[in-house]
Amino acid sequence: MLEKTAPFFMRRYASMRFSILTPDLCAHWDTRALTFTPGEDRASIPPPDALEEAWTLYYASIFNPARLKVSMMCKEMPKRYWRNLPEAALIPQLIEQAAARTAAMVHADPSQTQRKVAGRAAARADLPVDDGEAPGSLKQIAQMIQGCRRRDLWRDATQGVPGEGPSQAPLMLVGEQPGDQEDLAGRAFIGPAGEMLNKAFAEAAVDRSKLYLTNAVKHFKHEPRGKRRLHKTPNGGEVKACRWWLDNERRLVRPRVILALGATAAQAVIGKPTPILKSRGRPIQLDDQAQGLVTVHPSYLLRLPDPAAKAEGFAMLVDDLRMAVKLAGL
Ligand code: URA
Repeated sequence: MLEKTAPFFMRRYASMRFSILTPDLCAHWDTRALTFTPGEDRASIPPPDALEEAWTLYYASIFNPARLKVSMMCKEMPKRYWRNLPEAALIPQLIEQAAARTAAMVHADPSQTQRKVAGRAAARADLPVDDGEAPGSLKQIAQMIQGCRRRDLWRDATQGVPGEGPSQAPLMLVGEQPGDQEDLAGRAFIGPAGEMLNKAFAEAAVDRSKLYLTNAVKHFKHEPRGKRRLHKTPNGGEVKACRWWLDNERRLVRPRVILALGATAAQAVIGKPTPILKSRGRPIQLDDQAQGLVTVHPSYLLRLPDPAAKAEGFAMLVDDLRMAVKLAGL
């Protein structure tokens, strides 16, 4: 059972280290690998600590009384499990106060809320802004991205997501932009698209740790839809503005081959619109002496409803990876 459920928590809390202890099996996530160890009985589990107190405080502070749906809460976490949850002791009181707290929120002076939002934006606007001076290292790029104000995307993103991989990697992979999980964790390709890419790496026998993985755009562009944040494709101006970062990564890493995943990355790498299905499989000479290749984006495969089309697309990604690796001499 835990082997089946642990990957859900791994994806949901990708940026946090955690362990799930059960009498049968224990799962551990260290933000990179999910491992399992034999079960633990209750007596061997450490007693509640200060972290538990911090957690209950956090839980109470993020509880939104205006979104209270007791039936949904019970559906997601049946009451029989509540006795194992330190925060569950707070729930009856939070439910009881919800109506009054919501009414207070509705009647609050809107200017207070506006002031808070504006204050938060101003605080973030105080971060040192990149001034266009060429970065001297990938580490510096990763820091400078946090102060990037080239477009407005930084306002709604949690953080800028830098590329990662060896500083002299012969093969660079460029995606479109960080997704929801990448935005939260600050690491490229760790969400569902990253999982699909990992599957293709496994199929093509490619070692991910030997590649430099990055994105054409460094902040997550999205729009809120209920509790979800829906991906929005960056526009031409945003891709162009972000290209400064990609060009600096290319200058520093000097890869032999750059594989662009999808149309946005192809536009950023090649500098003009490039139809993926027509152009894949043929190396394109780039200005910085690297060879460019294009292929389908893993998210495109995730969206394909037809299993046969998905399999065909996946095979293309694997073939294109093999070609890129070979061309890069990896
Ligand atoms: N999609 C991308 O293009 N890049 C990521 O890092 C994640 C999803």
